[in-house]
Amino acid sequence: FIPPASGGAGGGTTAKDELGNDVSLAKFLENRNPGDRTLVQGLKGDPTYIVVENKEAIKDYGINAICTHLGCVVPWNVAENKFKCPCHGSQYDSTGKVVRGPAPLSLALAHASTTDDKIVLSPWTETDFRTGDAPWWA
Ligand code: FES
Repeated sequence: FIPPASGGAGGGTTAKDELGNDVSLAKFLENRNPGDRTLVQGLKGDPTYIVVENKEAIKDYGINAICTHLGCVVPWNVAENKFKCPCHGSQYDSTGKVVRGPAPLSLALAHASTTDDKIVLSPWTETDFRTGDAPWWA
């Protein structure tokens, strides 16, 4: 028995597109390239980047796009390979680790997986692999 990913007790939620529809992995990957970072609605509806690993797979983590300074949504800057906050200039590397303030903390992580061609996000409660610290968001 595999419990449903969406709305279940496990805390996982199906990623939604801007219209509120479930995100199909196959469709998602169709027009994307390795390294692309694309926003979906993730846990609690938070804007979350899904990272394309290769033509068939996404990375196993999603990056919460909410700036840890004052909450602006941080855009991905392809040319600089960074997330750069338009509000007060904070910068995060390609994994969402903070590299320039005023943001005090790295972007939050979520686990990203796939069930029945749907992208599923679930809470990240383990050590933050970027810093070796406990996750500040959990
Ligand atoms: Fe992002 Fe202030 S909200 S730098």
